[in-house]
Amino acid sequence: KLEELGVPFKPDTPVKPDGVERGLVGEIIKRFESKGYKLVALQLMHPTKEQLEEHYGDLKTKSFFPKLVAYMLSGPVVGMVWEGKDAVKTGRKLLGETNPLNSAPGTIRGDFCIDVGKNLCHGSDAVESAQKEIALWFPQGVKSVARGLDRLIYE
Ligand code: TYD
Repeated sequence: KLEELGVPFKPDTPVKPDGVERGLVGEIIKRFESKGYKLVALQLMHPTKEQLEEHYGDLKTKSFFPKLVAYMLSGPVVGMVWEGKDAVKTGRKLLGETNPLNSAPGTIRGDFCIDVGKNLCHGSDAVESAQKEIALWFPQGVKSVARGLDRLIYE
């Protein structure tokens, strides 16, 4: 088990439709790889409305919710699961702030977008949400590769 290996993470990090359309999938993967995280699942997919309503369940009452779901349905997304030390917290740092205008240069959102409604990528905000999101987007399951990575990442 990951926790037993001391791997406190595994967020799911989909590239949103604008990221796929703009050809930024490789760039986003590169940032996580360069940081030292390990890609353990990757999938191009067409999300359903039902999946999105579950994924963004806590935002259902927000005024922007219908627009958010429509945007996420506008094209394929690329789901990813990354593994490594403190990956939820650090993964969110790599992404930047929710509003790209508040995101520092050097972050994905800070470097590549300006619109909160088209902010390129998602990152789980806690280990528990990562677990739920991985189960939602990767129902087939995700295999950890942490054991083989001990020397690379954890020393
Ligand atoms: P949220 O979970 O608050 O942000 P994050 O993606 O950084 O975890 O919101 C989910 C998405 O909803 C966000 O990425 C973009 C969209 N959104 C808007 O379109 N308008 C808004 O005012 C907010 C707060 C979010």
